[in-house]
Amino acid sequence: MRETGAISAGADLFLELKGHRLRAGFVKALRDAVRSGRLAPGTRLPSSRSLAADLGIARNTVADSYAELVAEGWLTARQGSGTRVAVRAEPRARPAAPRTRPTASGPTYNLLLGSPNLAEFPRELWLAAARRALTAAPNEAFALGDALGRVELRTALAGYLARARGVDVEPGRVIICSGFHHGLQLVATALLARGVGTLAVEAYGLDIYRDLLADLGLRLLSLAVDERGARTDDLPPRGGVGAVLLTPAHQFPTGVALHPERRAAAIDWARSTGGLILEDDYDGEFRYDREPVGALQGLDPERVVYFGTVSKSLAPGLRLAWMVVPADLVPDIVAAKGHSDWVSSALDQLTLAEFIASSAYDRHVRTTRLHYRRRRDQLVAALAQRAPGVHVSGLAAGLQVVVELPPGTERAVVDAAAREELAVSGMAEFRYEAADPRDALVVNYAAPSGTAWTGALDTLCWVLATVTRR
Ligand SMILES: Cc1ncc(COP(=O)(O)O)c(C=O)c1O
Repeated sequence: MRETGAISAGADLFLELKGHRLRAGFVKALRDAVRSGRLAPGTRLPSSRSLAADLGIARNTVADSYAELVAEGWLTARQGSGTRVAVRAEPRARPAAPRTRPTASGPTYNLLLGSPNLAEFPRELWLAAARRALTAAPNEAFALGDALGRVELRTALAGYLARARGVDVEPGRVIICSGFHHGLQLVATALLARGVGTLAVEAYGLDIYRDLLADLGLRLLSLAVDERGARTDDLPPRGGVGAVLLTPAHQFPTGVALHPERRAAAIDWARSTGGLILEDDYDGEFRYDREPVGALQGLDPERVVYFGTVSKSLAPGLRLAWMVVPADLVPDIVAAKGHSDWVSSALDQLTLAEFIASSAYDRHVRTTRLHYRRRRDQLVAALAQRAPGVHVSGLAAGLQVVVELPPGTERAVVDAAAREELAVSGMAEFRYEAADPRDALVVNYAAPSGTAWTGALDTLCWVLATVTRR
């Protein structure tokens, strides 16, 4: 007696056979599939012989069921073209999708942080790289991969990072992750397993990372940030802090580069206490005015975990990032990751490897760097002319600038912008408890598409001129 069975007939069709009246159950399941539209009009059904073999039932049962459904008009049978779903067997209309509450559409202009200009994603070049990567991929690339990530990508990155960012690296110490967020989670897990209880963070930064670390059980110590970057000279000299998370090339969000003395102080602290520096190099590719600020990691590769990502250089939706870790930390991170790559797609990794190796990455970074620099210059010029009461800082790198505001006006400016359909962040959003308040906007000038940019800039200038003139 057969209680229940699930079969697949033809492409993508799942039929459930219930009960012991096999033929009746089969007829009903097919009829339901046609009626609901899961089997579209015109679909060719498997031959009675092959379906009977699939189901382990008598061929006659299938043939008789088909005949019954032909007689009812659900199916048609024609010599030479097999059994098909009748064209007039239109599926019952689908019930209307439940109505959702109307949601407010997004702001007309968006200068919030977090995204490059998505319209600049190099679709054609990415597609070409994907095609080449897929064509060349060995069969084993379709298996669950090495926890470190694809060796092709780790090799391409090692070359790129040494050349473009001054990272001291070989492929065996590169670990692929699904975004900086994921990498930070892995490193924090490994540090906790080593007994680290406290981690220092910059007093201005993204709360998602502070929350991630705190949720994992780490205590956080806040490091003040001034015009020379994070006060690494304040790191406790006698231990107690196991690691410090820094954005040395371009402090997020204030935009300053970590001063050479502060870089040295961070390295000295790490060497004398055995602590680890976590270097978030989220937008190191975008440096406009000066010589690129090389990675801190190059100063002491055994004391620094270096993190990079495509989230600013290509697109955050790719969820591809990397870390270069001290040799002795590799097994701990592999343990935290789970001994296989459960997260990052091998094909995306191979595509990025090909994208880098064919120099498309360098070319894309160069092109977008020029675009963003032009926008930054337009922003500075427009503000100087139309809102001379504000001062702009953090100009040398990245995709954002800081617009310093007269004391006490930040909230009013953010609110006035929102009334004009312009979304922009105030500095308060990034402030950790202990930080000194500072009135400013943090403006991501890269995000708007070409047409939205002019309107966004115009609105920003108007709001700033209006509020700061009062
Ligand atoms: C400070 C900072 N770090 C890292 C990242 C990259 O994060 P992810 O790679 O998880 O997208 C961002 C992205 O916006 C960022 O602002």
